[in-house]
Amino acid sequence: MTSNEIRSTFLAFMKERGHTVVPSASLVPENDPSVLFTTAGMQPLVPYLMGQPHPSGSRRITNSQKCVRTNDIEEVGDNTHLTFFEMLGNWSLGDYFKKEALEWSFELLTSQEHGFGLDPRRLYVTVFEGNEDAPRDKEAYQIWSDIFTRAGLDPATRIFFMDAEANWWSPGDNGPCGPDSEMFYDVSGKHTEGLTHDAFLQADDAQEVIEIWNDVFMEYEKKDGTIIGKLANQNVDTGSGLERVVGVVQGKDNVYDTDLFARIMAVARTITPALRSQRILSDHLRASVFLIADGVTPSNTDQGYILRRLLRRAILHTESRSMTRETIVAFVDAVIDTYQDAYPEVPDQRSHIIDTIEEELITKFSATLRKGLREFDRMTKETVALSGTDVFTLFSTFGFPLEMTTEVAEERGIAVDTQGFHEEMKKHQEHSRVGSEQKFKGGLADTSEATTRLHTAHHLLLKALQQVLGKHVHQRGSNITADRLRIDFSHPEKVTAEQLHEVERIVNEKIAQNLPVVRSSMPKDEAETLGAEHEFGAKYPDHVSVYSIGPKEASESTPHFSDAFSIEFCGGPHAEHTGELGHFSIKKEEASSAGVRRIKATLR
Ligand code: ALA
Repeated sequence: MTSNEIRSTFLAFMKERGHTVVPSASLVPENDPSVLFTTAGMQPLVPYLMGQPHPSGSRRITNSQKCVRTNDIEEVGDNTHLTFFEMLGNWSLGDYFKKEALEWSFELLTSQEHGFGLDPRRLYVTVFEGNEDAPRDKEAYQIWSDIFTRAGLDPATRIFFMDAEANWWSPGDNGPCGPDSEMFYDVSGKHTEGLTHDAFLQADDAQEVIEIWNDVFMEYEKKDGTIIGKLANQNVDTGSGLERVVGVVQGKDNVYDTDLFARIMAVARTITPALRSQRILSDHLRASVFLIADGVTPSNTDQGYILRRLLRRAILHTESRSMTRETIVAFVDAVIDTYQDAYPEVPDQRSHIIDTIEEELITKFSATLRKGLREFDRMTKETVALSGTDVFTLFSTFGFPLEMTTEVAEERGIAVDTQGFHEEMKKHQEHSRVGSEQKFKGGLADTSEATTRLHTAHHLLLKALQQVLGKHVHQRGSNITADRLRIDFSHPEKVTAEQLHEVERIVNEKIAQNLPVVRSSMPKDEAETLGAEHEFGAKYPDHVSVYSIGPKEASESTPHFSDAFSIEFCGGPHAEHTGELGHFSIKKEEASSAGVRRIKATLR
């Protein structure tokens, strides 16, 4: 089976079992600013796992979700670690539970007719052993036991109880969570006869068995790291890493030998003879292409910083420490060829992606390299050792990655305090994590009244900007904390003081009119026809939720869209009436990037 067949087989299997297929959400979370990237298929579904009805009206959802995780970036280059990956998933929003989820997982993995045809004798599973938060998952054990018995295999050598460290899944310190059951496949082919618990743990350590699917039974809620009780619904959240599944189905011991990487690795081989470097180049450029297609541009903060780091790490792994436009084009086209059917937003942006990488790697990076080397010379003029702080300064101020510093240092016989660097880095990360936690207390991460009111003000502001400045104004980014809102929007020049006054006046007028804020769900086409505002480049599912503000007589049953002041694609939450907002004032107007302005505003 090809990777495209594996992805479509998964979706078709779930569709046949009543699931609505939704498109992958963007890699940059739209409504959950508590994280930089979408790191799991469930992330865009958090509001629905928490109980809000899904706009499709369906309680069974499936998709293949683009994800980026960078916490294991140092491991990339081994057989399985990747920064970008796709997660196949199916979700029950208070509909089916453990029995269906586990039986379907087994059927899909092993069925020759409508699944992946994997050998059941090479399958092992884990279930939750229980703790003070939740009991031992005897139900999941029993379901698996029946499944293995039916397949003629001894359940005692197939199913292992594990602790919460291994078998409890949550997206972070807050949100839906629960015990899970993980499925492992024996990639060594040595373990078809069953294993003892200890032998299974050893085989896992040796990567002879690898995890290929996780079924989470999400019926609990976590708040600030503590389980606070049960959710209204019993949900299922599953996730299966596509690259790994493709690896096992195609009989490969590493993801880079699958058809997902065939074209990309072929380009990497022309650039460096070192296998690990070929893999890193392939991983990092593939991730960069998808990030740029989802609107990320290289910068020194947030998502842009991760993109910059991926691109700069990639160049370090080229033999010549440089890249030509031709090589960049070859990489981008290899990614596009591989993914054009599954992710048409990538080919749509081909020239923008190529230009962005070229600007970062050819125009900017060569200057960085020069400046960094000059600073390196200055720092080592009177010493033959670089302190952790020096290395960190080279890294953070001059964009000089650790790998590059150690390489140059080695050439020149200079010692490098890498441990000191990591300590500095950790301090910085802690600092920026705290910073981002504060900065990102918006959207769904914080549904406090203050944030919710600012979210509603944000809709009023966007509409007022369009009325005053023109129809070319669209949202390019947003961030809301309990103290202020921030909007980035397309507009070619500075907004004048008079225009800002007029915008403020309109927003405060709409607040004074105490207009109702109404939520509706409808097919995407219908929302587009209504002229509902949506973010540039974002992909939406077939059914969407929409918030409209005004007119006075609007309500959920009779939304009166044609007389609404503002209509936006949005997942909420919002104030019920604009009268709750208080006095709106604009605090700052500035440039954000070329053709994009930024406004910060408050409610008092
Ligand atoms: N959300 C679960 C995971 O990412 C399925 O493993």
